[in-house]
Amino acid sequence: MTAVNRDPLWYKDVIIYEIPVKSFFDSNRDGIGDLPGLIGKLDYLVDLGVTALWLLPFTDSPLRDDGYDIRDYYNVYPHYGTLNDFQRFLDEAHLRGLRVITELVLNHTSNTHPWFVSARSSRSSPYRDYYVWSDTTEKYQGTRVIFSDSEKSNWTWEPKTRQYYWHRFFHHQPDLNFDNPKVQEELLNVVKFWFSLGVDGLRCDAVPYLFEREGTNCENLPETHAFMKRLRKEIDVQFPGRMLLAEANQWPQEVLEYFGNEDEFHMAYHFPLMPRLFIAIAQGNRKPIVDILDQTPQIPDSCQWAIFLRNHDELTLEMVTDQERDYLWSYYAKDSRMRLNIGIRRRLSPLMQNDRRKIDLMQSLLLTLPGTPILYYGDEIGMGDNIHLGDRNGVRTPMQWSSDKNGGFSRADPSSLYIPPIQNPVYGYQVVNVESQIRYPTSPLSVLRQMFQVRQSTRIFGRGTLTVIHSRNQKVFAYFREYGGEVALILNNLSDATESVYVDLSRFNGYVPVEMFSQTQFPLIRKARFHFTLSPYGFFWFHLRPPRSEKAGKKGKGNP
Ligand code: GLC
Ligand code: CA
Repeated sequence: MTAVNRDPLWYKDVIIYEIPVKSFFDSNRDGIGDLPGLIGKLDYLVDLGVTALWLLPFTDSPLRDDGYDIRDYYNVYPHYGTLNDFQRFLDEAHLRGLRVITELVLNHTSNTHPWFVSARSSRSSPYRDYYVWSDTTEKYQGTRVIFSDSEKSNWTWEPKTRQYYWHRFFHHQPDLNFDNPKVQEELLNVVKFWFSLGVDGLRCDAVPYLFEREGTNCENLPETHAFMKRLRKEIDVQFPGRMLLAEANQWPQEVLEYFGNEDEFHMAYHFPLMPRLFIAIAQGNRKPIVDILDQTPQIPDSCQWAIFLRNHDELTLEMVTDQERDYLWSYYAKDSRMRLNIGIRRRLSPLMQNDRRKIDLMQSLLLTLPGTPILYYGDEIGMGDNIHLGDRNGVRTPMQWSSDKNGGFSRADPSSLYIPPIQNPVYGYQVVNVESQIRYPTSPLSVLRQMFQVRQSTRIFGRGTLTVIHSRNQKVFAYFREYGGEVALILNNLSDATESVYVDLSRFNGYVPVEMFSQTQFPLIRKARFHFTLSPYGFFWFHLRPPRSEKAGKKGKGNP
């Protein structure tokens, strides 16, 4: 009785919206967003045009890593609601045709999880082997420290039982020992629990780090792939049509392995693409994007990239060269408070200096490059950030619904909010909010909504091939997307000047370019070289409409 699209490849056709429950809407005035609050905002999300929701961790946790430090895999953090609330949320989302993706944190738990509490209490605890212990810190020396701003080592001393335990993230997040079959069993049960409730997909956190082996960098090990393949097999049997998304912050060649032979993950983030979009728009040159696309291998048919501009973490700069990182830091994070670990803790709009042309252009890239786009909550209205808050909290501030108290996020006393909303003359909730942006057609929200509609009018963008057009003008990044006989031509001007470009359209002689937002028809393609003029940071999306005879021949292959 659900209205969701039943195609097993549904994840190729959705637009994903990423939501921290605590930041979205507070229904009971305790200053913290909650599941009932989120349910109340589902109609907003449907109206915006997203078709899948990715919820950040919401199970019980001491919240020292915002819920990625799990205390109980089977219960909801009390301030966010109950398991019943979650079930109701899921049903309400499905009724509206929205798919739901939740988190699967496999690699570690909180140090307050009962397994670790027991494990650390005695060497003979039945849970001792759930974690990774050592007498020395000499083991696995080839492993990098990820949270380099807060942790010096991947080992932390446990005084009571006089051994070190292993952790790839915060010291209060001990890594689980995947060599222990019981641990594997436990996590498989967690997976089955959430899929039985009806979630459509799991975003598998920190996947490369499940196993440790001496003499390696303890990432992407064959044992990790073997475990994920086992998990996938069970899902294919018990929960066909569900999706697994890999968070593997690695180079394309390594990520490719996570797709396996269509027997591991359905989706994986394209981490290296993201920073290069930011370099390209800063330099006004397509080269960084074209280079990374050239290095991106073909992926199996049923697999899909997940692409994004920003998310709940720092804009990670791990998948760039040292030179590129220095460039990005000096361009986008001049103030040291804007930096965190190996990244930049800012939102899209401030990164684009609140330049609407640049923001819209970045969204154009996000929506037309190969893969499924993910939008981070608040970026649809161009929310700002707060670099004075610690860790990544500056990009996790309350959603700005209106110019009312607390930005319409909560009726609680402002001093009791989990963190304050943005309040400054440029990005404050008095200026940037949903209520005002819904009212006029050129607001960031309205324009993005329209872009979503156009994207969803065809399957080209989610499923089509990409061919880069190597026009002479490097400031223009143009490409064809093609699927089932349909062709789109996309042009993006990455520079701050008006640009002119000749595009070789000889393959499409006799076709008519139809601008996708206005349905305006351009002159028939007669010459090999077609000329376009683009305004600063301007972009065009064209459908290339085939000549009449061919169109008749290809009938039925068009829109879904
Ligand atoms: C992932 C999450 C991040 C979290 C980390 C440790 O990278 O995106 O927010 O801190 O895993 O669980
Ligand atoms: Ca609340």
